[in-house]
Amino acid sequence: PPPPRHAHPDWLAVALATDWPAQAEAVMAADNREPPLMLRANRRHGERATLITALREAGQAAEAHPWLADGIVLPHSTDVTRLPGFAEGAFAVQDGAAQAAAELVEARDGQRVLDACAAPGGKACHLLERADVELTALEMDDHRATRIRQNLERLQLAAKLIVGDASHPSAWWDGRPFDRILIDAPCSASGVLRRRPDVRLHRRESDIAELGVLQRRILHALWPLLAPGGRLVYATCSLLRAENEVVVADLLAAQADAEVVPFDLPVGQRAAVGWQILPGDGDLDGMYYAVLHKHPGS
Ligand SMILES: C[S@@+](CC[C@H](N)C(=O)[O-])C[C@H]1O[C@@H](n2cnc3c(N)ncnc32)[C@H](O)[C@@H]1O
Repeated sequence: PPPPRHAHPDWLAVALATDWPAQAEAVMAADNREPPLMLRANRRHGERATLITALREAGQAAEAHPWLADGIVLPHSTDVTRLPGFAEGAFAVQDGAAQAAAELVEARDGQRVLDACAAPGGKACHLLERADVELTALEMDDHRATRIRQNLERLQLAAKLIVGDASHPSAWWDGRPFDRILIDAPCSASGVLRRRPDVRLHRRESDIAELGVLQRRILHALWPLLAPGGRLVYATCSLLRAENEVVVADLLAAQADAEVVPFDLPVGQRAAVGWQILPGDGDLDGMYYAVLHKHPGS
């Protein structure tokens, strides 16, 4: 039989229609379009406007992102290693949906920050570019962790790198609480099909429940590491509620000192808890964010 017009696995088309009935068709259409290439200007290297000028002088069309402070949009994919400033760490490649993480973490100079699922280090590096924080980058996969080190080096940033399991902090935590925690959890990647064709082929419906269990374990295990008054951002590049608001609601039900911090982004939609960017919203990848605050009296 001819493949379905939307070219998505059936189980995913059904899951999208269940979770996002009004948007599912548009989401699948966006998944099938070529995405723009987005860069993140490294604030420690120079002004975004200066980098845009250098890119244009090198013949590369480039625009400042309309609302992300560090974002630059290129119309098409290109070999970024040949763009001016790459070797010197003037920029990194990062979709705008992922760049929103640093806005939401709100890390301030001097804070202790944990990036619990850090490889290849995109969000960790962004946090370090924006504030003088003491950042711990945790990653379970040894091989992927080396990519964090390479990115830190190219961008001339420093972090404490730990290879370890976010769901077992007793194996690596030094007992000092974190002011900020980012959990960019392992997920189905159902929000990034436009960049990751492999996801359509390899992801299985049964993965979703398993990922939900893992995501819950990580979130529950890390909550005690957050300082009273601290802020935790839970993120995935999934569109499925079972990996997103359901996971966060589970923590809220279990932890009396956890409260939701409401926020809006310029694009996307409010979820029952948190915020969902769907693929194509603002021409971004799909991404989910929830922000939690730990009650200071605890
Ligand atoms: C969505 S990716 C992180 C992307 C990264 N934050 C960035 O912006 O570049 C999730 C990462 O979590 C790692 N991971 C999976 N399970 C983990 C666990 N239990 N503890 C720590 N890291 C884990 C994966 O190997 C993967 O590198």
